Amino acid sequence: MTTALVLKYAIELVAVLLLALGIKGLSKVRSARSANQLAAAAMALAVVGVLVNYLGAGGIDGAAWIWIILGTVVGGLLGAITSQRVPMTSMPETVALFNGCGGMSSLLVALGVALYPAVGSDGEGAGSVVEAISIVVSVFVGAITFSGSIVAMGKLQGWLDTPAWMQSKARHFLNIALAVISLVAAIALVGSGNGLWLLVIASSLLGIGVTLSIGGADMPVVISLLNSYSGVAAAAAGFVVGSQLLIVAGAMVGSAGLILTQVMCNAMNRSLTNVLFGGALGASANQADQGEYQGITSCSPEECALTLETAQRVVFVPGYGLAVAQAQHIVREVAELLEAGGAEVAYAIHPVAGRMPGHMNVLLAEADVPYEQLIEMEAINPEFPRTDVVIVLGANDVVNPQARNDASSPLYGMPVLNVEEATTVFVVKRGLSAGYAGIKNSLFERPNTSMVFGDAKKVLTSLAAELRDLGVGKTPAKVG
Ligand code: TAP
Repeated sequence: MTTALVLKYAIELVAVLLLALGIKGLSKVRSARSANQLAAAAMALAVVGVLVNYLGAGGIDGAAWIWIILGTVVGGLLGAITSQRVPMTSMPETVALFNGCGGMSSLLVALGVALYPAVGSDGEGAGSVVEAISIVVSVFVGAITFSGSIVAMGKLQGWLDTPAWMQSKARHFLNIALAVISLVAAIALVGSGNGLWLLVIASSLLGIGVTLSIGGADMPVVISLLNSYSGVAAAAAGFVVGSQLLIVAGAMVGSAGLILTQVMCNAMNRSLTNVLFGGALGASANQADQGEYQGITSCSPEECALTLETAQRVVFVPGYGLAVAQAQHIVREVAELLEAGGAEVAYAIHPVAGRMPGHMNVLLAEADVPYEQLIEMEAINPEFPRTDVVIVLGANDVVNPQARNDASSPLYGMPVLNVEEATTVFVVKRGLSAGYAGIKNSLFERPNTSMVFGDAKKVLTSLAAELRDLGVGKTPAKVG
């Protein structure tokens, strides 16, 4: 074993350990930011390991250096610009796009080895059956991940909707036909080396077919599943090019994604098979019957402030609209005023609030909201009966009591935040339009609910001004 190879394995081992620590750290809000940096450093180290190995084994020729430098500069620039430019509201679409890039990379690596066998791990291309199967898996999963992620991004961005025929049984026949064509092409590719492009096309269409037919409220599951697929595709690409590091890293991402998928399924009380084959749960807003609202009560930020002035315990419920309004900083300001006035403050975090796993945690962490005030759904639900005021900020589906009470609702069975059990509920949103699942919300009609219509940031800014006018936060803390 050459010194360069020993050095490569040593560097890769450290990279894998750092990646594992990074993934573990991502499970806690407090450590997520540093864990992300750790995982990024692990990937940079992995690249160094690969370069060390190539340099030791005869070096890298000039033309290859140009491609390596070009790829690093273009990729690095795109990443840097994206991280600066993408607003928090577009993070879910960005995550979907990143998943797609992972799938596309694995697809391209496998295509490269299949089309130019000399670049394969052993220089003999798809010679061995193991390598041929690895190429098939990498192409199949990579293509599904790429096309599926692009569709998911389009759906999250609001560019794409589930077409009516995709909600009918016909979609199953289409998807089964595409799966069968992919299988035939895969067998042909392993057996005779033919069928590569048929496999690419059929599996790409399968990715579109499967993702397009999954509807509104089930998108959290789809996104975490695609994340898992991108890991599986990377692991398969690792077998294709003979990189143990890629195999291990891909397997870790794949299994972490599967665990996240399970968490999302539990959060929505749905099984994975039900999501994949059960139909388009939660039709989009323009397709679903939103119904007429009756007996809605609304109030101004001033009236809301008067109720808050005497509240002992206040819970904020952030939702997608808070991210749209970019109201994370002003909600912290309002919370600090209330705390200075003696109230106990918490934020209720629903696992699928927003548009990506952990969306609300990321948003509120950006505004330096104390981690200990972010309370998960299971922990905060029993606390609502002893809560004076709940302020729902741009959330809708995650506080819809119909998920508990109405068996005909598309949300039925999804655990929600039982905010209506509090003494008073203020719902801050611009109008009465539906949330992502596209359905009416009976919370708005409850006698203890008052709507505060307006953009969340504007309403909270007015609320902060009203609280200051009332002297909340300046007066000594309330007793009792
Ligand atoms: P939603 O149910 O989507 O409701 C968001 C509400 O925010 C809307 O009703 C909208 O009403 C309001 N809004 C929009 N802009 C606003 C603004 N500037 N100021 C104030 N309000 C504003 O959000 P949610 O309760 O967070 O639920 C999340 C939904 O998304 C669930 O159905 C979930 O399954 C789905 N989903 C989640 C994910 C993940 S992984 N979290 C991924 C994909 C889909 P107005 O227009 O009337 O203001």
